[in-house]
Formats: sequence, structure tokens, C-alpha cells
Amino acid sequence: MRIEIEQPLDMHLHLRDGEMCKLVAPLSAKHFAGAVIMPNLVPPITTLDAARAYRSRVLAAAGTHARTFTPLMTLFFKNQTPAELEAAREEIFALKLYPAGATTNSDGGVEDFTSAKTTLRAMEALGIPLLVHGESHGFVMDREAEFLPTYRRLATAFPRLKICMEHITTQSALALLDEFENIFATVTLQHLLITLDDVAGGMLRPHLFCKPIAKRPEDRDALLAAALGGNAKLMFGSDSAPHPIHKKECCGCAAGVFSAPIALPVLADLFAKNNALDKLQDFVGGNARRIYGIATAKKNVALESVPESVPAVYEGFGQKVVPMFAGEKTAWRVME
Ligand code: NCD
Ligand code: ZN
Repeated sequence: MRIEIEQPLDMHLHLRDGEMCKLVAPLSAKHFAGAVIMPNLVPPITTLDAARAYRSRVLAAAGTHARTFTPLMTLFFKNQTPAELEAAREEIFALKLYPAGATTNSDGGVEDFTSAKTTLRAMEALGIPLLVHGESHGFVMDREAEFLPTYRRLATAFPRLKICMEHITTQSALALLDEFENIFATVTLQHLLITLDDVAGGMLRPHLFCKPIAKRPEDRDALLAAALGGNAKLMFGSDSAPHPIHKKECCGCAAGVFSAPIALPVLADLFAKNNALDKLQDFVGGNARRIYGIATAKKNVALESVPESVPAVYEGFGQKVVPMFAGEKTAWRVME
């Protein structure tokens, strides 16, 4: 079988910087027409100037695919002033808010939402979406649930602000989509496929460890049903988060699953197996375009149900990173 996806989008992507960016950016740029680029570098991308410079580095790293790949840049939420936001609005897709210390490189994140009010009000007025890493400090099973009241407060206090829960992992977070018109969500590939048992139920599998960590079967099943059922407020965001192999296979494993190179083929397989291929287009771009009105490169990507081997490791520029499904085969592949 063969399908074509118009302008596939990855609404949550970590491309890193420097040599790692050179290794991973072409892999996303080849399969996607655009992606929302996370700002959690060291130091984080907090200003328009930094975002512009980072955008150029991403496009340079994407190489020949840069022509058909639109990086949607984000700023790390740092109580930016209304004037800063006004100046940035044309070139910035959104602001990404990290509760302080919740995840990789988020130490400079928000500690207190009252001090963030001026920025949030300006974003609402300017129509700049707010992307939220919805976990409080730590990542045990119920931390996402603990964060839900914060989403409710934000959605009520700023009714015209588009708020996106970035990579939701639970049934209860999913339920917020029905509760508030202005709340949306991204979900990753791994959270549609695995549960905590796959990460740590047997031997610990560091390459499946990410934040928020995969949860219970009922959570996974609810997220999958929403994606396959065409929930119009749910968008694919891979949260592909490469870490060098020595930061994953060690004592003190970094959080992040590197899924970008296999995401589209595995999604095609997952939707095909569930007789939901007709819903894939909206999940990987259509919903996002309707929600945010974003324009990206006009690239269509064709996939076919022909198996393809996944490398054990992606290597280059002095970097080594292990992908999801390393050494296995995907049932589908992207056509050249
Ligand atoms: C991300 C990373 O490595 O930057 N890790 C992850 O487990 N998801 C950070 C993030 O998105 O929270
Ligand atoms: Zn992320």
C-alpha cells in the first residue's frame, strides 16, 4: 500500500545545536514540511535575536532539505515584555513554558505564575500561543495530574490564549480538551505505543525513558483512541529528543526518546493496522494547521508498506545517538 501525506508537521521537536543538530536536523527535515523547534538549549533561546540565529543554524544543518522544511521557532518563557513579544510575533511561533526544573535544561523556567501575568496577557493580545511542559518538578506517575489545575487556571484567566499541553501522557489530561475551548495538546509516538512497563517493567530500557514518563495501559489506550479517532485538538509532536549514547547508557540516564527518523513510518503502520489511515493526515499536520493557521513548506511525503531496517545507531559529526526501534524493522518506509 502507498499513501501520501500533505505537509506533515512535527509539533514538538528537539533539534539541539552544534554537531548534534547537524546529525539530526536532516532526518526531520527530510520527512516533515515543518516542525516546532524547542528552545531548551544551554543557554535557552529567550530572545528574538537568539531565535533568529538558531533558525539559521537549523536550516544550515538541514542542508539540501532546508528548502522544503519550515522551522517554527519558539522562545523559552522568561517573562518577556510586551514590547519584546510585539517585536518577535512575526518570526516566532510560540513561547514554551517550563516549570522550573521539570525536565532537560529547564532550570531557568517559571517558578511562579503570578509574575508571568504581564507576559501571558501580552501573548493573548498578540495571538501568540503558549506551549506548556505540563509537569511539576519530578516525574512520578501523578505529576501530570498535579499540573492539571494549573492548566484550568490558565485557560480560565486567559480565555483567548491558545494553550497547548505539550506531550500529554494521561487520560485525565486528555479530558481537559473537552473541558476548555482554548486548550490543545500534542502527543508523542511513544505515548501511543508503550507503558511504564515497557520502560522499567523488565530490564530498564534507557532509550524509552523520557519525560513525562509513559504511564498506565489505560492512559496509552485513551491517547491512542483519541489519535485514531481523529480528535481535532490533538496533534502529533514527536518530542524527539536525542541525547548522545553515553548520556543514555550510563548511570543517570538523560530523559528523551530519539524518534524523528522512524516517526512517520511507525505512525503509518499504527494507523493502518487500526484501519485509521484516513485520520493520519489530520493528526500529523491538518489539525495543527487548523488550530494555529500556520503556513509551512508545501511538501508532500509518500509512504509505502515496505519494511525498512532501522540503524542501531545514527553516527556523524562526532556524535552517536540511538533511535527508537534501533536494529529493528519498520513495516512502512518513506519513499525517496
Ligand atoms: C526533552 C529533552 O531532552 O530536551 N526530554 C524529554 O524527555 N522529553 C525535554 C522535554 O521535552 O521535556
Ligand atoms: Zn520536549
